[in-house]
Amino acid sequence: MIDIQIENADEVICDCSGTTKAKIASLVEKGVYTLDGISRATGANSGCGSCDYEIENLLDELAGIGDQ
Ligand code: FES
Repeated sequence: MIDIQIENADEVICDCSGTTKAKIASLVEKGVYTLDGISRATGANSGCGSCDYEIENLLDELAGIGDQ
């Protein structure tokens, strides 16, 4: 299991669903690496859609951590 440490883990990245960075990190740890998968699991990016770029960036960041 990847032990992901991220800054500002409690930061809400999708206001519409209240999804935090920590929630996304925990899903990545479980093997959910795509925006679509995150969206289905949390409801993120299924409201206004303005958070897609931020979620993609976070996924890229977390993927980089997982590669180390
Ligand atoms: S902020 Fe994520 S869908 Fe609106």
